[in-house]
Amino acid sequence: MTSSVICITGASQGIGRGIADYFTELGHCVFNLDVKPSPDSSEALKSLYLDITDYEACNTSFAQIGADHGRIDALINCASIFSTLTMKPFWEIESADWDQVIDVNLKGTFNTCKAALPWLKQSGVGRIINFSSAVVPMGRPNYLHYVSSKAGVQGLTRAMAREVGDFDITVNAILPGATVTEVPRETVSPDQMKAMIQARCIKRPQEVSDLTGLVGFLCSDEAGFITGQSFVVDGGLVVT
Ligand SMILES: NC(=O)c1ccc[n+]([C@@H]2O[C@H](COP(=O)([O-])OP(=O)(O)OC[C@H]3O[C@@H](n4cnc5c(N)ncnc54)[C@H](O)[C@@H]3O)[C@@H](O)[C@H]2O)c1
Repeated sequence: MTSSVICITGASQGIGRGIADYFTELGHCVFNLDVKPSPDSSEALKSLYLDITDYEACNTSFAQIGADHGRIDALINCASIFSTLTMKPFWEIESADWDQVIDVNLKGTFNTCKAALPWLKQSGVGRIINFSSAVVPMGRPNYLHYVSSKAGVQGLTRAMAREVGDFDITVNAILPGATVTEVPRETVSPDQMKAMIQARCIKRPQEVSDLTGLVGFLCSDEAGFITGQSFVVDGGLVVT
């Protein structure tokens, strides 16, 4: 891959941030689009404020990047309501919380894909990678709005791949297992994390670096025939 224009949503922290660092170290032109300010912004990693629930704002951001560079080569959708979630049985999830999680995680992904599409077409080798989650095939309980939103992202990925193949754009989903980042969260207790590690084929904590290689490959020219697929990366906890 020569120097590419790569847009990553939700790259102010966590997995998105790790992917941004991976691509900037390879010398690509990387944009972080996030509601949360980035800890830093540089020539290599440019951070823009974007709330992905606002379609017009998505349009403005991607048009700005696309017009400046003539194209967008890859859109990587990491932004989600995730690390701020609290676990509860579904009958205790408030309707407003359900709406917010679906709005950000599912509609936000639709918004960014739609807004970036004209510029991905200009690339000739456009790539969309959507972060779903291994909790979908696991059917992990106690955050039903989140699991449902990530199942939606997987379905969106499959159907969108069929609609953009004629533009040589690929669309794939990555379904990570519980991944350790710098961000603390309540969705996996220490005991649950230990149990998950023991249930994996590869019995160790999952790091962001376990995901970056696959993201890099899916963005490469060699992956131009791989589309509509879901890749579970969880050390073999889920074997599909
Ligand atoms: N970390 C894990 O264990 C894990 C496992 C499976 C899937 N995932 C998925 O991977 C992705 C990254 O996970 P993470 O651990 O880095 O999550 P995170 O919660 O640490 O980071 C999410 C980022 O999205 C941003 N964001 C939230 N709402 C937004 C909005 N409306 N507009 C723009 N940006 C917004 C946040 O500011 C944050 O920077 C998410 O899609 C998550 O669902 C994570």
